[in-house]
Amino acid sequence: MANRLRFPLEVVEAVVGVWGTERTGIRVSPTGSFNDMVDADPVATYGALAEELQGIGIAFMEVVEDSFQGNHVEGRPEPVIDAIRAGFHRSYLGNGAYTAEEARQRIKAGRCELVSFGRPFISNPDLPERIRRGAPLNEWDSATFYGGDERGYTDYPTLDEIG
Ligand SMILES: Cc1cc2nc3c(=O)[nH]c(=O)nc-3n(C[C@H](O)[C@H](O)[C@H](O)COP(=O)(O)O)c2cc1C
Repeated sequence: MANRLRFPLEVVEAVVGVWGTERTGIRVSPTGSFNDMVDADPVATYGALAEELQGIGIAFMEVVEDSFQGNHVEGRPEPVIDAIRAGFHRSYLGNGAYTAEEARQRIKAGRCELVSFGRPFISNPDLPERIRRGAPLNEWDSATFYGGDERGYTDYPTLDEIG
């Protein structure tokens, strides 16, 4: 295990050396299966990583709990989340397929402190304001995600532009 954690911990230590613990966070994908990369025992691996990161004292862990790019468990990996939260007591950001409603529920239930959004932010430049107002969201167009021209990059309308 120590050898498996060596690379991320060396990177974190190097970053902390420059920016300090309060400005350092890490993003992990314990159950991701993108490019056929799968961890056989994410509870053990990420529980141990979480403890080490708690010891270093970084500000947050962002955890990709679900991914449209591949996740090898159904739904959010609650045992992995438990293991990370048992080891790491600073801010935990949940990520992956969140709606505003689920984000509120899970923060309230103590499953995370914060939630980050990917695709809804791409298609809604004013996402926080829309969530605040309970306004409908623009749908994203995955065909324009990875390059091309300004379409899908600068042309999703804000609420004010919709009128
Ligand atoms: C166009 C696009 C590019 C992305 N690139 C990366 C990346 O380079 N590294 C990464 O860790 N995640 C990447 N992601 C994943 C997002 O950070 C996020 O984990 C994912 O979209 C799940 O959140 P969502 O369901 O709110 O979109 C990308 C997502 C999209 C849509």
